[in-house]
Amino acid sequence: MTLKPQLRRAIGVFDSGVGGLTVLQALRRRMPHRDFVYLGDTARVPYGRKPPEMVVEFAGGIARFLCEMGLDGLVVACNTASAVALPGLAESCPVPVWGVIDPGVETATRVTRSGSVGVIGTKATIASGAYQRRLEARGLRVWAQACPMLVHLVEEGLADSPEAELLARHYLSGHPEIDTLVLGCTHYPLLRNVLQRVAGKGVKLVDSAEVTAECVEATLGTPPACFVQGRVLHFVTGDPLAFAHTARVLGGVDGEIEPLPLRELARNPQANRRTAGISD
Ligand code: DGL
Repeated sequence: MTLKPQLRRAIGVFDSGVGGLTVLQALRRRMPHRDFVYLGDTARVPYGRKPPEMVVEFAGGIARFLCEMGLDGLVVACNTASAVALPGLAESCPVPVWGVIDPGVETATRVTRSGSVGVIGTKATIASGAYQRRLEARGLRVWAQACPMLVHLVEEGLADSPEAELLARHYLSGHPEIDTLVLGCTHYPLLRNVLQRVAGKGVKLVDSAEVTAECVEATLGTPPACFVQGRVLHFVTGDPLAFAHTARVLGGVDGEIEPLPLRELARNPQANRRTAGISD
């Protein structure tokens, strides 16, 4: 069985949209010779307002599709999917699976001096309590706030706009004294400037992308004797042009973008193998 000829020992990365590209970038900085397959489920974004069972179903289909490509590992570069679907995915996937929540919690625990930490995320992530439970288990005081509209701003390319600032002020207005704010959504690092301005200079913003990449590298290591720049294949369930356009805030997409009809994410190994260019 061979993967598309240009991809070797690839790592799969998925998100509901463009936000996971922030994690992909961190992974590529650490492992520049690795190949990656990125899947942005842009036809069904946002996950953060959907019932957990639905997100579990979406994540399961995507993980199956990606794992059938014969990957080395899978990164769930979406906080919402990590919050509600991770234990199940880790059990059902034949390769190591990483989420973005534990790395964010690790970093926040290391960074905070006062022990008072804020976390912002989608409705589903905050309602799941995934961050709050882990942070509180480490003896930290936690303020949590869902910021559902921020994802739309990023997907619409309005990350650095007066509208983003207005909404950030609205969501952060009630926060108590904190010295650390966890960006518990992969879209929020794109709003870093606005969030830092609104939260105040004294508040450290925690983005789990770097630590996630560190964990993946520590487990998988570097492919031996490889000096060629790795490649990335992107699949998107929505409009590839819109994906490329939105990703410009992040410096653009490096690699091919292929449209992926949603039916391919249903339980259908034969179709998945054809789409992925796998031959026996
Ligand atoms: N990427 C998702 C997350 O990190 C946010 C976008 C969405 O709601 O789908 O939670």
